[in-house]
Amino acid sequence: MTQPGTTTAPVLKPGVLSSRAQPVLPGHDLLLRPWQEADAEQVARAYEDPAIHRWHARSLSIDQARSWVKFERDRWAQERGASWAVTVRGDLAGRVALGGLDLHEACAEISYWVLPQHRGQGVAVRAVSTLVDWAFGDLALHRVELQHSTLNKASCRVALAAGFCAEGTLRAKALHLDGWHDMHVHALIAGDVRPAVRAGDTSAPAEVDGHVPTTAATVMKSPTTSTAAPSIRIARTELMKLPE
Ligand SMILES: CC(C)(COP(=O)(O)OP(=O)(O)OC[C@H]1O[C@@H](n2cnc3c(N)ncnc32)[C@H](O)[C@@H]1OP(=O)(O)O)[C@@H](O)C(=O)NCCC(=O)NCCS
Repeated sequence: MTQPGTTTAPVLKPGVLSSRAQPVLPGHDLLLRPWQEADAEQVARAYEDPAIHRWHARSLSIDQARSWVKFERDRWAQERGASWAVTVRGDLAGRVALGGLDLHEACAEISYWVLPQHRGQGVAVRAVSTLVDWAFGDLALHRVELQHSTLNKASCRVALAAGFCAEGTLRAKALHLDGWHDMHVHALIAGDVRPAVRAGDTSAPAEVDGHVPTTAATVMKSPTTSTAAPSIRIARTELMKLPE
């Protein structure tokens, strides 16, 4: 909502989402569809996966998963953002969402997870690219931001492969289970040139680890877990290095 007295005109008008139904978005050999109540059980299981549990700092009972699905569906009508189930040949493969939607400045933050059995096949990059196509096209956003812990190498790869420009590091920005994490911030601006997206890989999923790195970036213990001093730091440039 625009603050009273703001002198700039809103880029997007209220109603841009709520005046229509959340669309199904086909793209890059997968489909993004609104969440359904029937997804709750799989959603609860998804948050049992150690990597999803870790990076999204959440676990859900079945009842909580039902509320989660409702929350994700309601985001659209409330114009707070929008969340889609990613499906591959009808199977639930992951989640991709826009959060922190600011209609006045036409910007939002993208987030995602992919179920373990669908990892290593380009699902995250294809889902992010499909949503970004829609966000800059149909919705006409100006900027889409992406943040991930500096420890989350897989997410950094997804951001770069989807064409998000690395902009910098936000210190101790996000509270995870093991404390405060520095966050890399990436962004795409409308009109940025993006790499071509590779088609879906129908071969067996590649083995990917839970991307717990052997060398770590920055973790600062949260006051609730320990009063210990910041533990480990490595050069942040390791993760921010862009392809030549
Ligand atoms: C991060 C995640 C979404 C990646 O999903 P995915 O579908 O396997 O990713 P893709 O197949 O599209 O791979 C994209 C890039 O990441 C790289 N990658 C994927 N998993 C990786 C891993 N564990 N370690 C390092 N790189 C990895 C791929 O090699 C690819 O890089 P490339 O384009 O240079 O070849 C998935 O591992 C996941 O859900 N993790 C847990 C939740 C999470 O981290 N969410 C993001 C929070 S910010």
